[in-house]
Amino acid sequence: MPRLFVKRLAILASVLLCAHVGIAQSSLVPTPPMGWNSWNHFFQHVTDADVRAAADAMVANGMRDAGYVYVNIDDGWQGTRRPDGTIQSNDRFPDMKTLADYVHTRGLKLGIYSSPGLKTCAKFEGSYGHEMQDAKTYAAWGIDYLKYDLCSFGDKLTVAGNGDQAAPAAFAAQQEAYRKMHDALVAAGRPIVFSLCQYGMSNVWEWGPEVGGNLWRTTGDISDKYDRMALIGFSQAGLSRYAGPGHWNDPDMLEVGNGGMTLDEYRTHMSLWAILAAPLLAGNDLRHMKPEHLAILENKDAIAIDQDSLGKQGDRVSALGPYELWTKPMSHGRTAIALFNRGELAHTMRVNLRELGISPGAHIRNVWANADLPFSDIINPIIPKHGVVLLLVTR
Ligand code: GAL
Repeated sequence: MPRLFVKRLAILASVLLCAHVGIAQSSLVPTPPMGWNSWNHFFQHVTDADVRAAADAMVANGMRDAGYVYVNIDDGWQGTRRPDGTIQSNDRFPDMKTLADYVHTRGLKLGIYSSPGLKTCAKFEGSYGHEMQDAKTYAAWGIDYLKYDLCSFGDKLTVAGNGDQAAPAAFAAQQEAYRKMHDALVAAGRPIVFSLCQYGMSNVWEWGPEVGGNLWRTTGDISDKYDRMALIGFSQAGLSRYAGPGHWNDPDMLEVGNGGMTLDEYRTHMSLWAILAAPLLAGNDLRHMKPEHLAILENKDAIAIDQDSLGKQGDRVSALGPYELWTKPMSHGRTAIALFNRGELAHTMRVNLRELGISPGAHIRNVWANADLPFSDIINPIIPKHGVVLLLVTR
């Protein structure tokens, strides 16, 4: 067979494969998505005005320019369906298309939320039986991101609890439901990031890309408490090989700025999410934000670690009781190193940089201290209770 023909055949095959598994969609998120989501602060009471205010704040406070682009409406926007089945927004969202235009004009993107079930988790209308219709509606409104939350879909089947293995029939039905919405989004013709939310059941990281997911929740819900955030974040050890450009593990949205953690704890939250190459979706009220919380969300080095173009998730190197060492490989031979103290007292952690492949001449940036660290084989920083020392090392 002539070589050119074989090459063309291979290209055609790969195009068909791409269309099938949604690789075209995956180019939407070459690095983990960044933005804001309404749920952690507004819950189901969010309004059009709240979303506009969030978009305005992101422009005014520098978040947009720091990389936070998606403005995501979570559960609570849905109204009833028209007689022909078309979904409508409720009274709090008078006109979704106008809202999308407002957000787009500010250089941002708009996200929305639904469920493969009949009802969402907050008991609003889900997409069950209306997948294609809803995908078309979202595309017509100008939506750029869909979070698709399992919720009541599980009620139709026997499903195990969060983080557990779903029963085989439920598992197959669930995969099918996600694939169905992905195919509907592709058919609707607008690039829409597809975010799976089924709380990490049945090792979703192993099959999320096959059903077209750009990201998938790996855990149950976060809350604005150190213990819950740490439980979720540190449980991600071992999942690094499942993430990469176009498909990301999602340990849930950020709580930075919601007020339930200390600054050290929020720095741990941001550092861990950056090491995990996790989506950075702020979840606080951006209108009323303390400068020190904004500084955490906008820290350039933490964002650079999260958004590194190599797209590798970091992982745990060692844990000695509550003292954990994590690293993340980065582009251009750089490495991020995080020393976490999960203990209840400040602690001196001893780390041998040479053993981590760092040699003299390396430039070491202490991210939260906003200072450079002179190279030394052994470093002994004091880490506050629940705190972190995050280093960005350039060879
Ligand atoms: C939960 C989900 C949350 C939020 C909520 C809305 O299942 O994990 O992130 O979306 O539903 O009802």
